[in-house]
Amino acid sequence: MNEITYFGHSAFQIVTSKGLHIWIDPWLDNPKAPKKTGPTQADVILLTHAHGDHLGNAIAIARSSSAEVVAIHEIQQYLLGRGVSNVTGMNIGGTYQTKGLTITMVMAVHSSSIQEHGSIIYGGEPAGFVVRLEDGFVLYHAGDTALFNDMSLIGELYKPDVAMLPIGSHYVMGPKEAAYAAKLIGAPKVIPMHYGTFPALSGTVKEFAGEIEKRAPNVVIEAMSPGQTLTLGIS
Ligand code: NI
Ligand code: MN
Repeated sequence: MNEITYFGHSAFQIVTSKGLHIWIDPWLDNPKAPKKTGPTQADVILLTHAHGDHLGNAIAIARSSSAEVVAIHEIQQYLLGRGVSNVTGMNIGGTYQTKGLTITMVMAVHSSSIQEHGSIIYGGEPAGFVVRLEDGFVLYHAGDTALFNDMSLIGELYKPDVAMLPIGSHYVMGPKEAAYAAKLIGAPKVIPMHYGTFPALSGTVKEFAGEIEKRAPNVVIEAMSPGQTLTLGIS
């Protein structure tokens, strides 16, 4: 079984059944993050896009571990320039296999840039990730995104067992759009993310649950509190 721990915002750690430590968008000092406990173990770090609330602590974690960072080409180039050596660049639509994982980068409708010294650096296109773990369990982390119809293709092609979807609105989908996304994707379980971190991210799990009830009543919402761990695997 695989253990998925939520760190608030869009940050997750997955410890796979084979003991691999995967991080997605590790912003570990976000306002909702649980208190830090010990050093951060990392084998693979996935970055959906370059915004600070997703790049987060990735550079520090990558430097203090031998973790392989996987991100779009432009973020790879940026990180190499920042002295992070183990970075694999890829692009949307492609699949990359590493350490027993099958990682597919999929589209997201958003923007992506790094703000540094008063200027904006292009961060490539924003993305989501579909990750097939060693045991065949498939997760989809949508990154920051609007609702888009091709989410149904992601569902059809990769058949995710769980989908992490933003519900906060303002910068990303709100509860209504996210519930429609859940319908298109068809994953049996959905973990809401990217809400409540700041007042602007006003979408709530309660609203999301109401919309899911209308749009995709068979979908189970796994609302995780920061620090909570969920055990998921192929049944
Ligand atoms: Ni963003
Ligand atoms: Mn964001």
